[in-house]
Amino acid sequence: MTTVAYGGVQDVLAQVGDALRGRTVIDCVNGIRHPGVTLATGNGPSVARQVADATGAHVVKAFNLCPDDVWRMTPPHFDGRPLTVPICGHDPGALATARTLITDLGCAPADAGGLDRSGLLEATAAFVIGLHISGVDPRSALPRADAFSAGETVEI
Ligand SMILES: NC(=O)c1ccc[n+]([C@@H]2O[C@H](COP(=O)([O-])OP(=O)(O)OC[C@H]3O[C@@H](n4cnc5c(N)ncnc54)[C@H](OP(=O)(O)O)[C@@H]3O)[C@@H](O)[C@H]2O)c1
Repeated sequence: MTTVAYGGVQDVLAQVGDALRGRTVIDCVNGIRHPGVTLATGNGPSVARQVADATGAHVVKAFNLCPDDVWRMTPPHFDGRPLTVPICGHDPGALATARTLITDLGCAPADAGGLDRSGLLEATAAFVIGLHISGVDPRSALPRADAFSAGETVEI
């Protein structure tokens, strides 16, 4: 799992070299530029894409939309329903590993497309963090949907 600050990602990738080729990497890094809460990646490749290209690893973007205190909840349920965790990736085995981690936490995995869509999750994180900083509950910006329950995998 990549859990370094965005500013350290390139340094770490340079040190890792070929060691991650073909292995599963779950990437939760958000490259957020302050002030203004914009994407440090700009219009370029997402962090997840950068990690995949630099390592040859099977990267899955996941766990980047909520702060760490949410992931410490046992389980992360809100208003009586499990947290939905969108994932983006291509490799079936890596996606299966991510889904298992998510269901083991009591959350509901949601397949959100291939790694080329990972930038959407990173942009969503910037949007959510911006709302939070502005004092707006990010959940108030999204309608409640009751389609998901723990253990189910849905496609977006
Ligand atoms: N915290 C959250 O709630 C949350 C939620 C979703 C996603 N994320 C993402 O998860 C990642 C980790 O979050 P965090 O809050 O733990 O971030 P953080 O405290 O800012 O940094 C995490 C680690 O990055 C390391 N690091 C920074 N520059 C480095 C470099 N040049 N080489 C090697 N290591 C370096 C730091 O190591 P040292 O201590 O040794 O400097 C630190 O242990 C971030 O990318 C963040 O966007 C965080």
